[in-house]
Amino acid sequence: MKEYKRYLITAALPYANGPVHIGHLAGVYVPADIYVRYLRLRGRDVVFVCGSDEHGVPITIKARKEGISPQDVVDRYHSINKKAFNDFGISFDIYSRTSSKTHYQTASDFFKTLYDRGEFIEKTTKQYFDTGAQQFLADRYITGTCPKCGKEGAYGDQCEACGTSLNATDLINPKSMLSGGTPELRDTLHWFLPLDKYEPWLKEWILEQNQHWKVNVYGQCKSWIDAGLQPRAVSRDLDWGIPVPVEGAGGKVLYVWFDAPIGYISATKELTPDWEKYWKSADTRLVHFIGKDNIVFHCIIFPSMLKAEGSFILPENVPANEFLNLEGDKISTSRNWAVWLHEYLEEFPAKQDVLRYALCANAPETKDNDFTWKDFQARNNNELVAILGNFVNRTLVLTQKYFGGIVPECGLLAQFDKDTLAEMPRIKEQVETSIENFRLREALKYVMDFARLGNKYLADTEPWKVIKTDEERVKTILNISIQITANLSTIIEAFLPDTANKLRSFLNISAISWENCDKSSNVLPGHLVNQPELLFEKIEDSQVEFQVAKLQKTKTENQARNTIAEPQKPNISFDDFSKMDIRTGTILEAEKVAKTKKLLKLTIDTGIDKRTVVSGIAEYFEPESIVGRQVCILVNLEPRELKGITSQGMILMAEDSDGTLKFVSPATNVSNGSMVK
Ligand code: 2FM
Ligand code: ZN
Repeated sequence: MKEYKRYLITAALPYANGPVHIGHLAGVYVPADIYVRYLRLRGRDVVFVCGSDEHGVPITIKARKEGISPQDVVDRYHSINKKAFNDFGISFDIYSRTSSKTHYQTASDFFKTLYDRGEFIEKTTKQYFDTGAQQFLADRYITGTCPKCGKEGAYGDQCEACGTSLNATDLINPKSMLSGGTPELRDTLHWFLPLDKYEPWLKEWILEQNQHWKVNVYGQCKSWIDAGLQPRAVSRDLDWGIPVPVEGAGGKVLYVWFDAPIGYISATKELTPDWEKYWKSADTRLVHFIGKDNIVFHCIIFPSMLKAEGSFILPENVPANEFLNLEGDKISTSRNWAVWLHEYLEEFPAKQDVLRYALCANAPETKDNDFTWKDFQARNNNELVAILGNFVNRTLVLTQKYFGGIVPECGLLAQFDKDTLAEMPRIKEQVETSIENFRLREALKYVMDFARLGNKYLADTEPWKVIKTDEERVKTILNISIQITANLSTIIEAFLPDTANKLRSFLNISAISWENCDKSSNVLPGHLVNQPELLFEKIEDSQVEFQVAKLQKTKTENQARNTIAEPQKPNISFDDFSKMDIRTGTILEAEKVAKTKKLLKLTIDTGIDKRTVVSGIAEYFEPESIVGRQVCILVNLEPRELKGITSQGMILMAEDSDGTLKFVSPATNVSNGSMVK
């Protein structure tokens, strides 16, 4: 593998529209921090940058909801998140924000460079406009049905249900978030990055040169590239953001996904006058830590921007993680279904490492995973307390008890001692290989093997029994146990930094280098160790029950809120209604649509004909259970293609208060083809 002189590590800039939660931590910030701390331990030249993403529609929507200004929103969450990251021990070298002066300048200059070189396509396109609010509807200001998976509630820029990136004009039944009404299309001028122009290069760069990327990342990039890339607008009609630095572009700002990744460059500029050394030298390794919803932006769009600009390096790796769910449900800021970092820090004081441990041990590295409070408790009680804490405590208590805290001499080594000591370099190497390949769950397992090694050594040598007959042998056993404990303080450092510090203070030693942390002579005989305290406390059932009850309360509140019916939509005329041809029909066949989670292909007897309808209900019904069921179907909906299948109509469904879908059917069977009026 290529040797790098320095490392530039970025962690996705979180939107400053809400607090950071465990999903963010598990997916991005804990892995990034572990990797960076490891690099620092290895003595590498590394900078670790992050900050708040303060532009875009997510911010203005939040401001509107709360009746405050976007500036108030970003000020509030920037300071909450900056403090929470700091208190949690995420060791950013800088936590900047995209409202900084440096960033405005950097992002404007970047745009200007590309603009002056003619890298953008300038195009007048049709965009949705809310006539009531007198506003163009950018990105999340518009919702509708996803043309890919059929799920309602997709946004103008992305469907969160299936992850597809969309244009607002792709949405079926578009609705304005501002008024709930149907918007009209109006002409507007925008600048587009011609991604199609970079397609041949991206094919070569990603599909050939970056085959070492994680399977989930490579796979997502490949399907984007295989589907064919289109020019992508990099400006928006919005009054919140960095103004497009072109004369006559009043009222238009840079698309948030154009300016946000440039935020990594701005943050590095703010950190050091040497920033170009990190961004413009081929011997810097640039790694972006992100969640899976950010893959296309970091692997395709931002690299195309960097390539077009020409003077920056490209990411060498983008180890994106999947999502973490909470107690079986998708984490959601709007539904308050989350464990918020700032609340955790208040409710579990001095337990940063426990959360780091639980999130890393269960990190969604290859697939979505679930966080449960029971698992959190078990990780703490059965692993941190019972393995790591137990070994360290026994070693230090016995050293105090038998030798007054003075590290005893190591005598003649038995074969078992030699075998135990020989395990240390072997495990250390496993930790290194796993971290360097971004397999941090696996690395943490090896780290715990180091503690298991010590635990087993004590359990097998039984110094508490041997002391009665052979004090010399106990000296050797405890010397070896002290060496393992001392080495552990370095081995665990990247994963459990507070615990590593505690260990050093218990042992009364300064840091042991990574190079030396598998040696057996790091603490000399005669050295005085301190009185130990418990490294970890048990987490009681009552603490877990409190957290689960808190979530249950959220669930109940959400259900109560959802039972309040949606506000009525604007009136329509009878003529509008009578244009809809709704009939009763019977499902004759149902099967899953390959490679989708949500779609079923249905054959329906409509009384008029037998036709195919693709419906986004696969999560709620097994195909065989709905064959024979009578349903209502809108038969004169314009046919549309879904996953290569022509869907000729739409089944009517009612969305229950818990978000599940139920059929709308006649109370008793009627002839197929009966009009619903
Ligand atoms: O998904 C998000 O939360 C974005 N704010 C991430 C931005 S990462 C980068 F490009 F700045
Ligand atoms: Zn979708």
